[in-house]
Amino acid sequence: MTGRILSGVQPTNNLTIGNYLGAIKNWVDLQRQSETLFCIVDLHAITVPQDPKALHQATLEVAAAYLAAGINPKESAIFVQSHVHAHAELGWLLSCMTPLGWLNRMTQFKDKAGKKRDNAPLGLLAYPTLMAADILLYQTTHVPVGDDQKQHIELTRDIALSFNHRFQKDVFTVPEPLIKGEAKRIMSLRDGSKKMSKSDPSDFSRIHLTDTADEISQKIRKAKTDPAPLPETLDGFENRPEAKNLATVYAAFMNQTLEEALPAIAGKPFSDFKPLLADLLVDKLSPISTKMLQYLDEKSELETILKRGAEHASTRANQTLKQVKDVMGFVSPF
Ligand code: TYM
Repeated sequence: MTGRILSGVQPTNNLTIGNYLGAIKNWVDLQRQSETLFCIVDLHAITVPQDPKALHQATLEVAAAYLAAGINPKESAIFVQSHVHAHAELGWLLSCMTPLGWLNRMTQFKDKAGKKRDNAPLGLLAYPTLMAADILLYQTTHVPVGDDQKQHIELTRDIALSFNHRFQKDVFTVPEPLIKGEAKRIMSLRDGSKKMSKSDPSDFSRIHLTDTADEISQKIRKAKTDPAPLPETLDGFENRPEAKNLATVYAAFMNQTLEEALPAIAGKPFSDFKPLLADLLVDKLSPISTKMLQYLDEKSELETILKRGAEHASTRANQTLKQVKDVMGFVSPF
């Protein structure tokens, strides 16, 4: 696939296998085919309160995770969102053109703001206009994300189309979401109807990329299941969300579809399948966490990569920002 790809992860808490399977793992293949930019979206993270030290550490950890997972800084720009000032600036310009009604409809805002909407910070509501800025600044054609981000990308498309229409010029490329495979929505280990999330209060609901072998085994052992063995056919997963989720995780780490993975696991009771899955996870995650720690130890290399990434991204982003400001009538600096 040719085109330009941008995506990002918030540096909030530890990354989960949901972030990895739903997003980062797919980015690795894309970087060989397209121009790719991957950012650590720290300005998004502060839409909910963050401890400054934890934000700092999580930002470096997400960068280390990108690299450890196989994002190659020679092929992709890896950068911290707040290092490229154009994001905040275009975010403001777009927020002045986005109707409140569009933002009020966003399910992520409704979930995060909860019942006390009046207490929610303005940034939480404006979040999707900043995300639109992230994407539109790079004339992005495709945005590889998990299922939960689809609505935000649809809004980005609406913002791009309405801007182009209002100023009668194709300033922005209208991006497409790229939501691939069965791992697009990995569910909580405690409740097959809830998304696996970095922010779930229960640590047992998710597996982190940096979990130890013991933690992984324990979390998989305690994962909610039902009494029946794994089914022989895909139809057999109906009304068995927990079983389907664990089998999907297995398939995704085997680089297979659920259908391809099924013959090897069909008919297994969970007492056999869970240790198999735990071993697979340890096998796939331990090289990633080892490399992450190496990058975090070698901070100067990480800093050089992020600096280069931000320089590359800024050049691209500033071109778009200039076009936007020109059509809107801003006077260029003298
Ligand atoms: P964030 O940080 O919540 O998640 C990062 C990526 O991980 C995917 N993801 C999942 N995929 C499958 N199953 C899950 N349980 C799961 N949980 C998370 C998300 O879909 C996402 O792709 N708003 C974005 C960050 C962002 C962004 C952007 C993304 C800001 N600007 C521009 C793309 C382009 C977010 O909160 O992701």
